[in-house]
Amino acid sequence: MKQVLVTGGAGYIGSHTIVSLVEQGFYPIIVDDLRNSSRVILDGLAELTVDRFLFIPIDICDKEALFRVFDDHTFDAIIHFAAYKSVGESCEVPLQYYQNNLIGLMNVLEACSRYSIPKFVFSSSCTVYGEPDQKQVYETTPKRLPESPYGFTKWMGEQIIEDVHRNSVPFQTICLRYFNPIGAHPSGLIGELPVGIPNNLLPYITQTAAGIRSHLTVFGNDYPTPDGTCIRDYVHVNDVADAHVRALLFTSENPLSVFNIGTGKGTSVLEMIQYFNEVSGMDLPYHIGSRRAGDITEIFANVSYSNATLGWRAKRNVKEALNDAWNWEKRQAKSND
Ligand code: UD1
Repeated sequence: MKQVLVTGGAGYIGSHTIVSLVEQGFYPIIVDDLRNSSRVILDGLAELTVDRFLFIPIDICDKEALFRVFDDHTFDAIIHFAAYKSVGESCEVPLQYYQNNLIGLMNVLEACSRYSIPKFVFSSSCTVYGEPDQKQVYETTPKRLPESPYGFTKWMGEQIIEDVHRNSVPFQTICLRYFNPIGAHPSGLIGELPVGIPNNLLPYITQTAAGIRSHLTVFGNDYPTPDGTCIRDYVHVNDVADAHVRALLFTSENPLSVFNIGTGKGTSVLEMIQYFNEVSGMDLPYHIGSRRAGDITEIFANVSYSNATLGWRAKRNVKEALNDAWNWEKRQAKSND
């Protein structure tokens, strides 16, 4: 059975990927220090996979601890999720973002070479496109400078990987540029667990519906879009998870490949509220507020290259994702009672 090291495997996208990996016959070994996750997710994973994974609690910025994991185990691939991901927080504590996200990445890349790991999958983001001229972006769309230190860590992460690949390295890298992952596993056993007040739209919507927040603030309705609110490409986290399995199965002459991971369809904030109301039967309280600094107007993926070359496409729609996210939130509310 193929063994895969999954850094940040207890996180939001990481945990859903563990389930996909186990379903496809891989044996994942998670390294995660749980600073941005919780035992609840590991318990959910244990139930969903019947314990078919190993968990090692270390910080990947601790290079000695990380290399000890490589001394003790062999890996056919590494999927590297472990990173901070809050745009707003990254503006407040940029050094923490650069230290954690870049040192972690460099340690893992060094391990790839030193331990001859044949395949490396990197969690990148559509943030590397900045504010694009064309709203639908291809992998070949020129990268633009991002708006936040978080965005820069992804942008620089890709640059570091490119530079490493300029010398012939003995491993293949696949960068997956996620658009906006949302939703949860349909079982309700794992999902997004934001620490404190959520920054992202979906957990804010579900926490408002659960009564944890009084209302959602829509950040601006004066954008040049049909209803004035920003447009994003929301993609079900289980589809994002499946993309990682495809990446492990993908072989190419090219040592470095980049794929957009989205649905190819944009949805506005007001449409998200309307869809949420449809799936939940609720009437979500919201106010229109001012624009949030750093938000771009509109972006969505062109996914023809991912469909044709990676052999991956999103199978679930936004309403399914909203339904699964709401199911997860309700289960959380119950278990907190
Ligand atoms: C950002 C990052 C993305 C990252 C993601 C997860 C950029 C350009 N994008 O996405 O790379 O993967 O965070 O951390 O850096 N909104 C509201 N009210 C809220 C919250 C959000 O109206 O309370 C709106 C936002 O203005 C935006 C949309 O909802 O238009 C989505 O926001 P969010 O979920 O935070 O994701 P992004 O900012 O698109």
